[in-house]
Amino acid sequence: MKVTLEYIQKQIKIKPKIGLILGSGLGVLAEEITDPLFLPYKDIPNFPESTVEGHAGQLVIGKLADVPVLTMQGRFHYYEGYNLQKITFPIRVMQGLGIKFLIVTNAAGGINLSFSEGTIMLINDHINLMGTNPLIGKNLAEFGPRFPDMTEAYSSKLISLAKNVAKKLNIEIREGIYAAVTGPSYETPAEIKYLRTIGADAVGMSTVPEVIVANHGSMSVLGISCITNMAAGVTGKKLTHDEVMETAEKVRENLRSLLLGIIKEIGVGNENAGI
Ligand code: HPA
Repeated sequence: MKVTLEYIQKQIKIKPKIGLILGSGLGVLAEEITDPLFLPYKDIPNFPESTVEGHAGQLVIGKLADVPVLTMQGRFHYYEGYNLQKITFPIRVMQGLGIKFLIVTNAAGGINLSFSEGTIMLINDHINLMGTNPLIGKNLAEFGPRFPDMTEAYSSKLISLAKNVAKKLNIEIREGIYAAVTGPSYETPAEIKYLRTIGADAVGMSTVPEVIVANHGSMSVLGISCITNMAAGVTGKKLTHDEVMETAEKVRENLRSLLLGIIKEIGVGNENAGI
């Protein structure tokens, strides 16, 4: 960890305020970063390497909406074969750099029947169905407690802020619960019925490990899902990764404006929202 932080700190000229994880098909947002410093994962000591198509695999550090950010262009997934400690290592790096805000985006399948392809959903809670937890093992007391509270895993202040930004921009957004599964196979229709019954609005194969570790380290988290497809069995159509990428691309412009607006507000330090 020390080596990793030194490697990054030696090269950055700014102090990032927000950590941003860009999911499937959304990585291009990192291209808008001004004065960017690109650090390919493969060059960063102790970093895992991303293997999924559509994920570039680098940190991009610079400014978005004039706010210093550290962006993960491409993330790591459990189904790639890494353990959850590896997957969440970048969150620890963010914490080591003093970053207090995390924005995570992902592609997800829509379970809530009032959603449709292209719905943008703010995550207001999650259900961890990965069967494991990134905090298993010796507790890193310098980051947080053995048994961290998860009552507000997704900051209600950031949710309000995001809703206000969306309203101003006239972008329709929804709110809901994200269920995390391991993948890589998509769910069966029976599994989707089960997930709906237990209260999930969307399902995906990422985000939850990072959010658990972010909460352990007292970061404020905002999670945004792009509903790239309705989940298995909802329409009867078969699911493909190509469809996921295509929808993500269609939603990108709205998501881009939304994210820039949110980042700007967080950067200003919105006193009324308590941020
Ligand atoms: N299921 C799981 N993960 C996903 C989906 C889905 O339908 N769509 C995008 N990521």
